Amino acid sequence: MTQQTWNAQTYAHNARFVADLGMPVVEWLNPQPGEHILDLGCGDGALTIKLKELGCHVLGVDASENLIQAAQALGLAAQVMDGHALVFDRTFDAVFSNAALHWMKQPELVIQGVARSLKPDGRFVGEFGGMGNVAIIHQALKAEMGNRGYDPELLDPWYFPSPEDYQTLLEAHGFEVTKIQLIPRPTPLPTGLKGWLETFANPFTVALPEEERSLFLDKVVHTISSQLTNETGQPFADYVRLRFTAVKA
Ligand code: BEZ
Repeated sequence: MTQQTWNAQTYAHNARFVADLGMPVVEWLNPQPGEHILDLGCGDGALTIKLKELGCHVLGVDASENLIQAAQALGLAAQVMDGHALVFDRTFDAVFSNAALHWMKQPELVIQGVARSLKPDGRFVGEFGGMGNVAIIHQALKAEMGNRGYDPELLDPWYFPSPEDYQTLLEAHGFEVTKIQLIPRPTPLPTGLKGWLETFANPFTVALPEEERSLFLDKVVHTISSQLTNETGQPFADYVRLRFTAVKA
């Protein structure tokens, strides 16, 4: 099992853009005042609070205790829960998820839990990393771990499916998929490639002795920076979003 650890302060510093860029999927959700919504993988609650401000009764769940504490500090209802083991039964009008499902490597369990959590006709609306997401970064991390004698597949924490594969999974669990799109979205990184790697790549780095981790990340940055720097000198990540909306049939 791969292990990502989260620190709410580092996350806010290096990855605030994740929630800032989440509004298109909120538009697909089209939340209505009074609706009961589960925010699956709510992180520090930066988007959850927007749903609350729109008049929804929203509960955030996330596997990270540290991020849930940050969400609770915003006054949100939020609890620690593994997305593979949702405990709800016909509770929500919609399940919403932004930038979280790619951390859940057993999507069948997640989708089963979402289906169980929804009322009849409930919506599952989400966005996460799709096929080809952060491919340059991902390949470089795996290659560099391989160079150091580790099996990168055992450490790989991410699930980036194609729209076809994800639609098939949703349908197999009783959803009707109304829209699904793969959206390339190169994304400027305010704190650079190293800041991104320090926030998100620890499932790879934890395998290394502590004193090697920073040098490892420097090596990865060196390998990828010419491909991931735009014409104005700004580093970016090669994000590809998979956005979907599905209804429980
Ligand atoms: C993403 O939002 O696509 C993502 C974030 C961190 C690691 C991998 C993917």
